[in-house]
Amino acid sequence: NLNGVEFAVADLALAEAGRTQLRLAEHEMPGLMAIRREFAGAQPLKGARIAGSLHMTVQTAVLIETLVALGADVRWVSCNIFSTQDEAAAAVVVGPGGTPERPEGTPVFAWKGETLDEYWWCTDLLFRFAGGQSPNMLLDDGGDATLLVHKGAQFEAAGAVPRPAADDPDEYAIVLRTLAESLAQEPKRFTRIAAEVRGVTEETTNGVKRLYKLAADGELLFPALNVNDSVTKSKFDNKYGIRHSLVDGLNRATDVMIGGKLAVVCGYGDVGKGAVEALRGQGARVVVTEIDPICALQAAMEGLDVVELDDVVERGDIFLTTTGNFGIISAAQMARMKHNAIVANVGHFDNEIDMAGLAKTPGITKIEIKPQVHEWRFPAGNSIIVLSEGRLMNLGNATGHPSFVMSNSFANQAIAQIELFTKPDRYPVAVHRLPKHLDEKVARLHLDALGVRLTKLTKAQAEYVGVDVEGPYKLDHYRY
Ligand code: NAI
Repeated sequence: NLNGVEFAVADLALAEAGRTQLRLAEHEMPGLMAIRREFAGAQPLKGARIAGSLHMTVQTAVLIETLVALGADVRWVSCNIFSTQDEAAAAVVVGPGGTPERPEGTPVFAWKGETLDEYWWCTDLLFRFAGGQSPNMLLDDGGDATLLVHKGAQFEAAGAVPRPAADDPDEYAIVLRTLAESLAQEPKRFTRIAAEVRGVTEETTNGVKRLYKLAADGELLFPALNVNDSVTKSKFDNKYGIRHSLVDGLNRATDVMIGGKLAVVCGYGDVGKGAVEALRGQGARVVVTEIDPICALQAAMEGLDVVELDDVVERGDIFLTTTGNFGIISAAQMARMKHNAIVANVGHFDNEIDMAGLAKTPGITKIEIKPQVHEWRFPAGNSIIVLSEGRLMNLGNATGHPSFVMSNSFANQAIAQIELFTKPDRYPVAVHRLPKHLDEKVARLHLDALGVRLTKLTKAQAEYVGVDVEGPYKLDHYRY
């Protein structure tokens, strides 16, 4: 705590470097900046106390300062132990007008390379606003903040938290220890927080899946807005974002020539489609694996071989998981791979590649090439290269998606926060999507920057196709 701003970041002296990057990012984030201009006077988020858990990058810094500009009181953590950009975290804490000695910005608890214990310590702190207050809004990416509140409230109702062994390194054991400590301090803490929270806006596919499951099980405690399934989010960030940041991550981590290599992409959803495009663009020979016949057929129609992993495990040079599922690449399969094959994941959680199984392989050694790049040498003498310990490599080995595409995602986030906070009656406890006219609005905010000239419907044409001249132009089930 310095000058009344609480924080836990790597180094406040990085703030100036972060601020210069933020200035460039603001120029590349026209949607978010337009929202700042539109709502700065009305202050729709005045009274909102937003707890945000989302990769603490330069782009996220622009989102945070937008929420603050709209009147919100904000606290932030990263949703991944490797994804924080330390200069961005420092810049947010210091704020546009502050100095490292006299910060004036927003509380952030995040640094690159947290341990899991530190990660959950930060996530718990996220809920402790100054003056003993709690958040009344959540902004989540992957659902860890939402999970902590729900698990906490659930155990409070049951009267106890299951006690794992004090040295159990499993992530869920760490969550349980975090909750047990928290409940020891204040018995009904998360029940109270859940009652105060007006809603959560969720960023990614995996977090959204968790929310729909909570809703289906009748356990969802507050309304949720599924930001991921705005068209201007998943069809842009997941696809075009990964098309940019995947290659960035591969290059920074290994600088291996991608052209000519055999790349195996597991999963051909939105993220998989972007990954394939990027790898093909570099001249890789790409094959995919899928479990969904529709996505498999799409891949085939794009001229891709659709294979089973076992068919190519000995031949692939680069293996990439994009499924949001677990157990995609096993330790036994990694042992069979070519010498120095690269194994990486861009799905949200670290269980797509069986890292635990790999570590338990008898006789295996782990050699650090550099942070977030490890050679795992099998007893037979062959090695594989694993990026970011199996976590999101585009954020662990590079700096995530570029600003322009994140402006689309985060414009959705800002609008979703305004919707949930200001119109609670419109959104009962359930998982909702943003109305289509707001999705179209986000796209519209990004056209000028690209010199796009949109054709305007005539009144007669609008009547002929049965839409309003101002939109929405498609029915909700349209798939783009
Ligand atoms: P999606 O649902 O569109 O695609 C996932 C695909 O994987 C589906 O087509 C599914 O059928 C397939 N799949 C599931 N199990 C499989 C298996 N065992 N083998 C082969 N394929 C399998 O989801 P989306 O939006 O592409 O997201 C994927 C993951 O990426 C999620 O975890 C999401 O949270 C994450 N994500 C990561 C980003 C990043 O910056 N790294 C950005 C956006 C999303």
